[in-house]
Amino acid sequence: MRRFLGIAAALAAIACGRAPETETMEQLRERVFAVAKVQTVYMDSLLTEGRCPRTFQGDTLVTSDIGWWCSGFYPGVLWQIFEETGDERFRNLAIKHTRPLAGLLDRETDHDIGFQLMGSYGKWWVSDAATLYNRDVLPLDEIKDVLDKGVKKLAGRFLPETGVIRSWNGARWNFPVIIDNMMNLELLMFYGRDRDREIAEKHALTTMKNHFRDDGTCFHLVDYADDGSILGKQTVQGYADDTAWARGQAWALYGYAMMAQEEKARNQDMRETFYGVAAKLESWLLANLPEDGIPFWDFSQSDYKDASAGAIIACGLLKMWRLRDCPADDPALTMAERILRTLASPEYLAEPRTNGGFLLKHSVGNLPGRSEVDVPLTYADYYFLEALTLYPVSAN
Ligand code: GLY
Repeated sequence: MRRFLGIAAALAAIACGRAPETETMEQLRERVFAVAKVQTVYMDSLLTEGRCPRTFQGDTLVTSDIGWWCSGFYPGVLWQIFEETGDERFRNLAIKHTRPLAGLLDRETDHDIGFQLMGSYGKWWVSDAATLYNRDVLPLDEIKDVLDKGVKKLAGRFLPETGVIRSWNGARWNFPVIIDNMMNLELLMFYGRDRDREIAEKHALTTMKNHFRDDGTCFHLVDYADDGSILGKQTVQGYADDTAWARGQAWALYGYAMMAQEEKARNQDMRETFYGVAAKLESWLLANLPEDGIPFWDFSQSDYKDASAGAIIACGLLKMWRLRDCPADDPALTMAERILRTLASPEYLAEPRTNGGFLLKHSVGNLPGRSEVDVPLTYADYYFLEALTLYPVSAN
């Protein structure tokens, strides 16, 4: 946990609304976290009980209930601010916005129980267990109980005949698996038992076989028959089935880098296999990302940028750089810095007390579904802060 001493310069930069010319990455990180403190408190003041922030459109904060797949990201932003600054107010706010998500355990959920619980209860667990914060009085058992039940729900969606976890519910597909599901494996890898981790590994192996194209990019959705044969491949949130939907590539890069990291941490033998999938996609991304590092919502398009995809890709690149033991001269590190500098510029970073309390502008949720085009999104903010904490402070 880092605590700030020299916050004055960052606050001065906020007041000016722009980044100082010669800003180091450490100063940039301080500046962004200072903005995040203001924005998240402002957002809390706009939220009514039981509602989660979703986006900001037409000068209005659009909210959801806890069932929306993004309900864990705002608490996750608050936990990250607490971890970064040690400011107790953010711990209290984080708990306030985490606790309602226990209600998910009594509902029908889908694969996104991973996203929902990792940002909220998962971060609470990490924060308290890591610091042993007031451990005599805090409900570590209660937190672990929610995570255990979430793991059970997610692992229960695995069908051995297909070798994958089912992503979405509903009847439009037989057994749909989307690339985003790779992210939810983190819940099984972090909080599951051996059997749950085996399910996660099997899902990643099957997805590796069926979701990827020869150039290293991936489809969004693969629909499986009950015997594991493939009924179809689509890119539902992208421009066309054979194009590279930007956030899909971001989930894939992060997902396989995360799996490689977990295998490495546990001395397991699929480290190289998962690293290889991410490395091929990483090369493609480094060759295809635009100059400022922020992709358009689909790599075949040039209309709307997607800050969320940029932020997630920055996390994935930094994870890959760490898997290579942090070489000083690495194109992934250079690109991650470029992405972070662009996101921290006035073009993307909101002025305090604007933008509904979101940090970043210009993300795309689901353009083909005509939903959330060129708007702020909670996950863009969440992964932006995560990427800043993954970036080495001593790199410049
Ligand atoms: N996981 C849904 C999305 O990326 O839009």
